[in-house]
Amino acid sequence: MSKVRIYTLAKELNLENARMLEILDGLGVSYKSVSSTIEEDTVELIKQIVAEEGTGSGDEVTQAPAAAPADAPDTAKGDAAPQASQPAAPAAAQPAAQAQAPASATATQGRDDVVSDASKAEIPHRAPVVTIMGHVDHGKTSLLDYIRKTKVAAKEAGGITQHVGAFEAQTSKGRIVFIDTPGHEAFTTIRARGANVADIAIIVIAADDSLMPQTREAIAHAQAAKVPMIIAINKMDLPQANPDKVKTDLTQLNLVPEEYGGDLIVVPVSAKTGEGVEDLLEYISLNAELEDLRADPKGTFAGVVIEGRVDKQSGVLATVMVQEGTLHVGDFLVVGENYGKIKAMTDSAGGRIKEAGPSTPVQILGFSEVPTSGEKVSSAKNEHAARDLIATRASDRRDTENAQVQRKLTLEEMMGP
Ligand code: GTP
Ligand code: MG
Repeated sequence: MSKVRIYTLAKELNLENARMLEILDGLGVSYKSVSSTIEEDTVELIKQIVAEEGTGSGDEVTQAPAAAPADAPDTAKGDAAPQASQPAAPAAAQPAAQAQAPASATATQGRDDVVSDASKAEIPHRAPVVTIMGHVDHGKTSLLDYIRKTKVAAKEAGGITQHVGAFEAQTSKGRIVFIDTPGHEAFTTIRARGANVADIAIIVIAADDSLMPQTREAIAHAQAAKVPMIIAINKMDLPQANPDKVKTDLTQLNLVPEEYGGDLIVVPVSAKTGEGVEDLLEYISLNAELEDLRADPKGTFAGVVIEGRVDKQSGVLATVMVQEGTLHVGDFLVVGENYGKIKAMTDSAGGRIKEAGPSTPVQILGFSEVPTSGEKVSSAKNEHAARDLIATRASDRRDTENAQVQRKLTLEEMMGP
């Protein structure tokens, strides 16, 4: 036995990945993700710790046993010592998106957006929101279709995604929310408005085509947003499929697949045969577990518009992703300088629902104006409060506009005739 992946060991020892990372942190062993490998002597040490703990307390892991592994000297004091040692992924290039974010989101050290572990633990977990990006025709919709087990691609005019859709998949690993975007448009517009709606980006690359311009763009977007990426090499069923070329091409972007010693998760799949799709879902869940995604269904509502459109029969429809809190039919919502009262809500399967909690995409009937992708949605106590909020926003906007005009005039004066 030699190097072992963290999640493999966690599985073997029947430990939660989060717990495994805690132990590693306690030992001062550095890693980039749960898919990083650890050295044999560290593995032995962890087994020892787990055996000593038995079913037990788990309070003791920050104390490393006397025989610290050779590659983790002196760092086993349990505080957030700069992660040294652990040459598990030696020449691995750093710039993978995962590598930029702190790998140990679940661990006790580090994230400043986390109030404290104690208060955080009271907030329930939420389902991950996954966006799928990639070059035209590489199979994004087909892959989602396979997951959803319905035929969305066949329903779309010309097989091209016409609008942003979102759906919830019930997998053996729990609920996963997927956003289907035309190319990466929605992702870009949403992000341009400062809202990060996706927790994980799947970059679909056709095995017979490898990296294309929109693939590179998609990767750049995911990196800029610091959203962890998982690569799905699609169309593996084709005789001309060449996954090795895809992996080599990725390496040239400094994205090094796991099997080449890096941390990039690459999953070969076929949207046609379903090969590898279960693995993909498993990697998504693993990643979500690592990110420790939580949201309070009892908190103040916050959401983002995924899509807005006019339906000939129903009128204005908006797909909104609930991020915090819970939406109810009858709630007043404010988007930009518009408001609406929720007359009806449907889930992504088209069923009527009365309320929707975090990480739920809902289609809302009740806005008078079509909201734009990426706009933030907030709720108001009643119609009066909604109007007040809009009035404040409108006046703020006019002030900004006036200030801009003023600045321009002053500039012109300074420049003289
Ligand atoms: P856009 O929405 O236009 O960007 O395309 P897309 O990435 O959503 O691709 P789409 O799912 O529409 O698939 C494009 C074509 O590739 C279709 O003809 C699919 O049938 C085909 N295709 C998708 N996945 C696979 C696959 O795994 N194997 C094979 N053989 N064909 C596939
Ligand atoms: Mg599509």
